[in-house]
Amino acid sequence: MGNYYEIAMESASYIESKIPCRPEIAVILGSGLGVLADDMENTIEIDYRDIPNFPRTTVRSHEGRLVFGMLAGKHIMVFKGRFHYYEGYDIQNVVFPVRLLKLMKIKNLILTNAAGGINQSFVPGDLMLIRDHISLFAPSPLRGRNDEKLGERFPDMTFVYNKKLLEHARKCAVEYSIVLREGIYVYVPGPMYETPAEIRMLAALGGDAVGMSTVPEAIAAKHQNMRVLGISCITNMAAGIGGNILSHDEVVNVSQKVKNDFKLFLTGIIGGWSFT
Ligand code: HPA
Repeated sequence: MGNYYEIAMESASYIESKIPCRPEIAVILGSGLGVLADDMENTIEIDYRDIPNFPRTTVRSHEGRLVFGMLAGKHIMVFKGRFHYYEGYDIQNVVFPVRLLKLMKIKNLILTNAAGGINQSFVPGDLMLIRDHISLFAPSPLRGRNDEKLGERFPDMTFVYNKKLLEHARKCAVEYSIVLREGIYVYVPGPMYETPAEIRMLAALGGDAVGMSTVPEAIAAKHQNMRVLGISCITNMAAGIGGNILSHDEVVNVSQKVKNDFKLFLTGIIGGWSFT
């Protein structure tokens, strides 16, 4: 195998050989949020295991399939299952799916996740638009030699989450009567949930929600100059806030409960998307 770029090129070419046209929007789905792909039409599914050089998923409830098809009149490509740093992957592999998007010339990316609510006004089941993130506690996906073909060495992170897309998502929430929160997502490497003391610290730092994904992908996407939209499903209150102990089953159960709102909201966002 050659370098990272050549390896990713081989994977991208394989995917391109299986689909009829370039998708306008890519979506990476978080824990329990795979339902979005159920409403897609004319789908073509590719098992991650069949894509050359693609990493494998290991978490319960995370599938490993790429679904290409139409949703709300748009050609989209959905990653059902993502790679987390806590699974043991190199951070470059965590963002491997995002790198393929650059090689496939896809400009738009929606990132979704399950997250713990730090902001005391949130309740489990809320959807939160990610306005910005804090990522100081984990290694950067840009660490190591920079490949100028992907992006610059010191990319700006002032507007990781595209301002026009944030505005578009807010309008969709109003149109579809979705209660939409907005805030700062704090990325932690996991896999253990946080302690109450850690959550008090993250609250003091300005965090509204906490989770173990999304930010590496958002950084890689911004590095390669993509438009990014991030949406968290608040599946539980963070440690010490609700008084309960945290479990992965709770995270999956709550994401199941909000799946209709989540589908409605995302379908509306995708259907009304006019950024090419
Ligand atoms: N902490 C970290 N990650 C999470 C949480 C949480 O409370 N809920 C869902 N993912």
